[in-house]
Amino acid sequence: MKAAVREYRPSDWDSVRELILNAENFGDAFLEHERVKLGVYSENPEYGRVFVAEDADSRAVVGFTAVRIDWSALVISTIIAHHAHLRQGIGSALVEELVRFGKSLSNVETIWVDTGDFMLYAQEFYKYLGFDEVARVPHYMSSDFHQVFLILRIRANE
Ligand SMILES: CC(C)(COP(=O)(O)OP(=O)(O)OC[C@H]1O[C@@H](n2cnc3c(N)ncnc32)[C@H](O)[C@@H]1OP(=O)(O)O)[C@@H](O)C(=O)NCCC(=O)NCCS
Repeated sequence: MKAAVREYRPSDWDSVRELILNAENFGDAFLEHERVKLGVYSENPEYGRVFVAEDADSRAVVGFTAVRIDWSALVISTIIAHHAHLRQGIGSALVEELVRFGKSLSNVETIWVDTGDFMLYAQEFYKYLGFDEVARVPHYMSSDFHQVFLILRIRANE
């Protein structure tokens, strides 16, 4: 699939809601938190941004990412590709947009993300995109698992 990435609009919520409900390791428990976060970022773009990926042919929303702007770092808060279109480059297109966005902000040097140690597919995904694992924090999110922190330096050679 050819994915085109653009900024989120409030009218995208119904599509994004379906992505959250159907994604592995997300679902109904995350819905209200994500809804509030997307509203805060939409209304306060200096604190965070939301991007959606569209199928370039049908214009259907097939993925989204929310990123917090933390002074010199972007922190990926959520990234989801449509459950029926995994491994088709949607997640990569979203992260590529975050790299472009980060480079457009003069003080941003890194993109951070963290994920549960049991989510091996997510770690593979981030490492494929050039992220390095830098820490494992015990019981950061839950007493059941550790959290893996990964970093991508977007100005390493400048
Ligand atoms: C993580 C996620 C966003 C990746 O999106 P995607 O569109 O499927 O990823 P891409 O197609 O861009 O994958 C790029 C590369 O990452 C790696 N990768 C992606 N998914 C992988 C998987 N399930 N297992 C192993 N490697 C994987 C592969 O190297 C892949 O390239 P390839 O398909 O040519 O081998 C998607 O799996 C998802 O939405 N998962 C559910 C929500 C979630 O867990 N989000 C992350 C929370 S931390």
